[in-house]
Order: sequence, then C-alpha cells, then structure tokens
Amino acid sequence: MSKPIIEVQRITKDVKDSTGTLTILHEISFSLQAQESVAIVGASGSGKSTLLSILAGLDTPTTGSVKLAGTELFDLDEDARAAVRSAQVGFVFQSFQLLGNLNALENVMLPLELQGHPEAKRLATEMLKRVGLGERLKHYPRVLSGGEQQRVALARAFVMRPALLLADEPTGSLDFATGAQVMELMFELNREAGTTLVLVTHDVGIAQRCQRQLHIEAGRMTEALAAQPA
Ligand SMILES: Nc1ncnc2c1ncn2[C@@H]1O[C@H](COP(=O)(O)OP(=O)(O)OP(=O)(O)O)[C@@H](O)[C@H]1O
Ligand SMILES: [Mg+2]
Repeated sequence: MSKPIIEVQRITKDVKDSTGTLTILHEISFSLQAQESVAIVGASGSGKSTLLSILAGLDTPTTGSVKLAGTELFDLDEDARAAVRSAQVGFVFQSFQLLGNLNALENVMLPLELQGHPEAKRLATEMLKRVGLGERLKHYPRVLSGGEQQRVALARAFVMRPALLLADEPTGSLDFATGAQVMELMFELNREAGTTLVLVTHDVGIAQRCQRQLHIEAGRMTEALAAQPA
C-alpha cells in the first residue's frame, strides 16, 4: 500500500468554559493511506467537526500530532501550515463559509487564482456545471439556497483536485437526488485524482460506501480503530 497521506497521533483537544476544562477529543490516533475513503460517524457534539478542523490544521490540538503528506503540521507556523493546506487539502465546512462579496464563479475561482492558475475561470465554470450550477455562476451566496451554497462550497474544494478532501456533512443540505450526484462526484475524484476522502456524515448509505468507518463517541474513537492493521 502507498504511504499515509495523514497520520494522527494521540490528539487531545481541551477547551475552557465557565465551569472549567472540557476535553472534547481524547487521544485519537489513526492514519489514512492515499486514496482511501473514510466516513467519520458519531452523534451530534461528539467532536467530528473539531477533529476535521484539526486534520486541516485550521484548529490546533492541545496535545498530539498530525503529519500531513509527511509534514508535521503543528511544528509549522500558521503561514507555513496554510501553505501546506492550500497545496494538499480541500475543505468543505458544515457552514459552507462562502465569501459573501464574491459570486459563485468567483468563489470557486479564488483558490485557483491564489495559486496563479491560468485557467481558473474555465475550470471553475466546468466544476460549477458538474455540480448542477451552470445557471447560477453570477449569483451571490445570499440569493442561493442552502443546497446551492453547499454545492458551490463543494465545487470550490473539488476544483483543486486535492490530495485530501475533508468534508463536513457534504450532503446535509441536499435533497436525495442532488446528494447522490454530489457523492458520485466525490468518489469520481477519489478514483480519478487519487483523492483521499474523509467524510463526516449521518447518512448510513454514504458511510457504507466508504472503505472505512471511524466512530466517534464523546470525543473517543472506537471500533474502526481496533480494526486497523497494527
Ligand atoms: N471552542 C469551544 N468551546 C467550548 N466547547 C466547544 C468548542 N468547540 C466545540 N465545543 C464542544 O465540543 C463538542 C464537539 O463539537 P463538534 O462541533 O466537534 O461536534 P460535532 O460532532 O461536529 O457535532 P454536529 O454533528 O452537531 O456537527 C460539542 O459539545 C461542542 O459544544
Ligand atoms: Mg459538526
């Protein structure tokens, strides 16, 4: 098998609130090989979004380490971490996080433009067509429906053909047919570009399509971890 795209070792995340310190992730360890597809499943509040943000280097663990494509993420300063992220990771947020002052096309073009890609407009247009938004290129996020915003966010992540795609409930705002279409696109990316997929999902059907399922319960990873080869 190829070498791991991501190696997570004993990640813990503590947050402070008015009553003291709360541990929201407890010593989570796992690694993912390039081209694997993994579902992260667990109840609301179990720590899925927190874990995903740490994998992307968008949030920092209290203890533990994350190695992304061979680079120790939390040994880097924020700028260097952002550079690794933009080269390797596509992230689809649970809350989409589109830029409100950019239209759909501009939102999808942005990551390509930041890398100086000469064909940003063509590639972004094609990707928006593939997610069914060819007629919404000039629309701003505020006039798009929740599902349309989600598809713009997916197009923005897909267009970079990242080594690692982290998606937080990517079909959560989509109807069944559109959700199925978006899933097809993700698995196509997985096959064609070798993208490793990490999908947070409450959808059993989606979880079963992934090669592995990691369960989180109150910040602890269960079962699937034990099933991993040593
Ligand atoms: N900065 C913070 N301060 C305090 N508590 C936090 C903070 N961030 C997250 N939490 C808590 O940590 C827990 C895990 O949150 P997280 O958003 O990772 O859950 P989740 O599994 O993604 O849930 P959902 O399925 O509802 O999206 C929750 O109980 C949340 O309230
Ligand atoms: Mg969440």
